[in-house]
Amino acid sequence: MESGSSQPTPSSGANALETRSLSKSFGGLRALQQVSIGVAEGSITLVIGPNGSGKTTFINVVTGFIPADSGRVLLFGQDITNLPPHEVFRRGVVRTFQNPHPLKKLAVLENLLIAEPGYGDSVLHSFSRAWVEKEKRLVEKAFGILSFLGIEHLWDEQAMNLSGGQLRLLEIGRALMCDARVVIMDEPIAGVAPALAHSILKKLRELAQLGISFLIVEHRLDIVLDYVDLVYVLANGRIVAEGKGEEILKNPRVVEVYLGAEG
Ligand SMILES: Nc1ncnc2c1ncn2[C@@H]1O[C@H](COP(=O)(O)OP(=O)(O)OP(=O)(O)O)[C@@H](O)[C@H]1O
Ligand SMILES: [Mg+2]
Repeated sequence: MESGSSQPTPSSGANALETRSLSKSFGGLRALQQVSIGVAEGSITLVIGPNGSGKTTFINVVTGFIPADSGRVLLFGQDITNLPPHEVFRRGVVRTFQNPHPLKKLAVLENLLIAEPGYGDSVLHSFSRAWVEKEKRLVEKAFGILSFLGIEHLWDEQAMNLSGGQLRLLEIGRALMCDARVVIMDEPIAGVAPALAHSILKKLRELAQLGISFLIVEHRLDIVLDYVDLVYVLANGRIVAEGKGEEILKNPRVVEVYLGAEG
């Protein structure tokens, strides 16, 4: 995982993930209304919007945690709409949560190992040569990821002793452990000190450079905008604007959405 430039790069054009007119209501509440977005392969795409605008619902529908009422979700052109979460995961889409929930009593290394889908199998075949080889490979892979993320020294620390930022890094590590092609993150830098927040976003850029595609939801626009390729703005379940970086904040519809939300 060599480091590349940390600047956003133009996308290759192909969409890793796409939604087409995705809609979801909770009773009378129209939480998502015809949401269409594209996440170019190897890009970081950001969805912003005031509290309650539908960001987490969008992630839940895309990842199969909540069924869509209508519309489609495409992964590398294949329809994955309303597949159960484990099927979406099996196809290479990994999500992180607004509040990280690692297994708190397990060490950092164990949290990575259990994220690997093959790890359970290896336990069943204890003490065979194949088991030893597989364990070794998984442990080496996990250490490689921890070293890339700069938290190798925490390998035997229980997850409950990590800071908020370190927990976010662990979540990214878990996504890398299962070779995610698309990573969907709900507020990856919420509650993280600015210096660590920047370094988390730089890591995401390096990973995007390697071809991983990111869809992230985040409130901290002062920090996140420089690191993303494309921004979509959600308000009351609808995409009201789309653009690049700081430009988006000049869009009158976006100003209205945020001022309206504060008022
Ligand atoms: N399971 C549910 N049942 C009923 N209403 C829900 C459910 N989940 C979300 N909602 C409602 O849908 C709307 C969108 O909520 P959502 O959590 O997606 O917003 P958000 O943009 O993620 O907000 P925040 O920035 O606060 O995280 C809100 O009005 C919320 O109350
Ligand atoms: Mg949310």
